[in-house]
Amino acid sequence: MTNNQRPATIGILGCGLMGAGIAQVSAAAGYKTIVREVDQGFLEKGLGRIRKFLDDGVAKGKVTSEARETTLGNLSGTTDVAAMKECALIVEAIIENVDEKRRTYAALEPVISERTIIVSNTSSLCITELAASTKRPDRFAGLHFFNPVPLMKLVEVIRALTTTDDTYQRVFAFASSLGKEPITAPDRPGFIVNRLLVPYLLDAIRAYENGLGTLEDIDKGMKLGCGYPMGPFTLLDFVGLDTTYFIANIMFDEFREPAYAPPPLLKRMVLAGRLGRKSGQGFYKYA
Ligand code: NAI
Repeated sequence: MTNNQRPATIGILGCGLMGAGIAQVSAAAGYKTIVREVDQGFLEKGLGRIRKFLDDGVAKGKVTSEARETTLGNLSGTTDVAAMKECALIVEAIIENVDEKRRTYAALEPVISERTIIVSNTSSLCITELAASTKRPDRFAGLHFFNPVPLMKLVEVIRALTTTDDTYQRVFAFASSLGKEPITAPDRPGFIVNRLLVPYLLDAIRAYENGLGTLEDIDKGMKLGCGYPMGPFTLLDFVGLDTTYFIANIMFDEFREPAYAPPPLLKRMVLAGRLGRKSGQGFYKYA
């Protein structure tokens, strides 16, 4: 993503959990990065999250003050879509709602160049459907980052049926230029990682419901027996039970296989508001 040896401008739509992280790694990699939010309050909250991450990094000796200044110097925020005009590549990381994403692309396309590539960070929507909703289905792809973005090395690059080789190669190269390790995933629900992870997490809930063991013993078993960094229930509480339920439903709708069906306990925990760490209680309680 360079133009005449000068770093290109990268646009990020949404400065929530993911958008803020993506904006941070883009700015840290030397790209002039413009992040767009719906209003000033959300924008300031998102930019504040980036500043805090960098300040904490400096305090812990993991980020140099120079790197912090460079990153913040490359970063700017806006609420105006027209500010994305110069962007060579735009990463959409807004809420997971297909209609909202469509509306966002429709507002964006009249102000950006014909050549600009748009990628979506969606976890569960169909990339080909999103591409088809734009006027540039050939210059559209999926670019799926992992949370927390500055720390997680993996990025999945997803081709829509319509994505050209050139677009795919540019998007892959962009991911590498951020210091990430890209892999190529198919345009199927769950891509690669969630396709394997979600059935495992759902199976852990089913096994627990069937009395396989206590939460603590199942977690300890998978952690110490398999070398996983955390057990399934600790991980579920991190991911969010509502997010897991949402993704499981999308995967089940597409594949119609029992492995993707959300277990009754998961649905009830979501209905009860036990969403994991973010709500203070999931499978475990958090003070
Ligand atoms: P979030 O709710 O933290 O952030 C979304 C942000 O988008 C909000 O700040 C909202 O104000 C903003 N927004 C909404 N409409 C907008 C628009 N038209 N223009 C600009 N900003 C707009 O959500 P999160 O978790 O960051 O998710 C964003 C995307 O990333 C979703 O597609 C999600 O599926 C995907 N994703 C989420 C992961 C996660 O672990 N949370 C992991 C990988 C992908």
